[in-house]
Amino acid sequence: MTKRIYLTTPIYYANAAPHIGNAYTSLIGDVVARAKRMLGYEVKFATGTDENGQKMVQTATAQGKDVKLFLDEIAAEHKRTRDVLRVSYTDFIRTTEQRHHKFVQEMLQKTFDAGDIYQGEYEWLYCVGCEAFKKPVDLIEREGKMVCPDHHTVPQTLKEKNRFFKLTSFQDRLQNFYNEHTDFCIPQFRFNEILSFVEQGLEDFSISREGSTFGVPLPFDNKAVTYIWFDALYNYLTVCQGGDEVFWNEGEVIHLIGKDIGRFHAIFRPAMLMSSGWKLPDQIVINGYFTVDGQKMSKTLGNIIMPLELIAEHGRDALVYYLFNDNKIWNDGDFSWERFISTKEQTLKKWWGNLVVRATTLCRKYDVTTISMEGDAKESHQALLALATAQWIQENGLRKLFVNWWTPDYLENYLKTFDLVSYLRDRFQLVQLGNKRVDQTKPREIAKTNVDQAKRDLQALVRLIKGTAVLSAPFLLDGFARFKELVNVQHPVWEGFSTDQTTHQTDELFNLANFEVTYREGYLY
Ligand code: MSP
Repeated sequence: MTKRIYLTTPIYYANAAPHIGNAYTSLIGDVVARAKRMLGYEVKFATGTDENGQKMVQTATAQGKDVKLFLDEIAAEHKRTRDVLRVSYTDFIRTTEQRHHKFVQEMLQKTFDAGDIYQGEYEWLYCVGCEAFKKPVDLIEREGKMVCPDHHTVPQTLKEKNRFFKLTSFQDRLQNFYNEHTDFCIPQFRFNEILSFVEQGLEDFSISREGSTFGVPLPFDNKAVTYIWFDALYNYLTVCQGGDEVFWNEGEVIHLIGKDIGRFHAIFRPAMLMSSGWKLPDQIVINGYFTVDGQKMSKTLGNIIMPLELIAEHGRDALVYYLFNDNKIWNDGDFSWERFISTKEQTLKKWWGNLVVRATTLCRKYDVTTISMEGDAKESHQALLALATAQWIQENGLRKLFVNWWTPDYLENYLKTFDLVSYLRDRFQLVQLGNKRVDQTKPREIAKTNVDQAKRDLQALVRLIKGTAVLSAPFLLDGFARFKELVNVQHPVWEGFSTDQTTHQTDELFNLANFEVTYREGYLY
């Protein structure tokens, strides 16, 4: 049976080019998409831009630009960033597209027909920065004024006729759903925040804006447009229409988002989908935010990191390795330039780069081209595993089973936890170990008296570097492409392998027992 997964990133506001924070969520999705393709999954991976809001109109106007042209420019910038970062998305949606407007209108009509929309007149506080309604209790005092805690601006006061979504009538259904789907949101502490928010009692929310003309017109009242979040949250379904329905209906559906937009995705949206008659997604994975050198990224501080500039100077692998090595995805983290540079130089270049150079140089010298598990060769492999095991226990205790380190199941299980950080650290503990093993076994010296022994030890080393390269392929794209040039495994699956496409012979890719290989001289990084 075909295994399918549908992954999404949030759609990013099209008021500015994407910074490193936006790139982070996209890169999490990319690593998972690539790993899943390696495991034989058909992957649909959607991203895009959120365009129907006042924030966009205001920014374009402030820059004296036509809104449509402005949005085209920013959307192109987002696409370019994702292309340069090689985020392997399969769909890019802009919410100003006709297909999206049409679909959202159908959904609005369904919700209206289901009796879940009603009309009222209210006075509102609205923060354009957040594109969200606020209550007086949400605000903080600054210089005698009540302002939004995130944007430090006084919200607009709006008195208008509004359409409301009857969120209150979904209270029980949502709670039942959460009880039955205890891993609907990960990490658990974020899910707990959602649960306690819902337990305090939900309120209906406004889904229309009267004065605004920029957005999706309500099909049952063309004087108003729908509230930006009501349209944006449907983007994930818009891209499944017209051929890719199977991903929603039969695939595993996982949304990746930042911690700021958990309530929209875990409360509002499930209720909206219940009302319009859709199955709910399987999981929402919530990542933390990070600061730069301990400070919030801001224009005033001039510390906003733009991914394109960073990778032009340091390369994509350095960025990805650092992001996934430094901090668990759901914790708030900090981008430290010092740690970034040292990880790049130390771990990638010294440990990993050196190990590959050492292994390929020695294997060329002693002509280690057949890797096999026959006879004595198995002993060398087991010796390396024993060393790994000893080191593992010393550093981690007996908490995990390590014998499965190099199997597809190991990768699959890790992906379920989204603990990409431990996964990557484990890989690179093995790299350190490989270096240690060369120091200990001293192949050049042993070869003087027992060349067969040296060759067997080197075979174990080739297994280790092949295993590490395969398992880090979803992260280190440049390093992996280069690795394939240096370590040329003689098998069609290996030759044609790329994490851009679904692999159909996963087991062969992970085969570390018996294979033929040749080497080229050169550096990995
Ligand atoms: N347009 C809405 C989302 C709609 S989804 C239906 C939005 N857009 S945004 O441009 O503000 O981007 C939000 C996402 O970018 C966050 O949810 C998060 O995933 C990511 N990040 C933005 N800043 C970030 C950091 N400083 N750190 C980590 N992630 C950050 O909200």
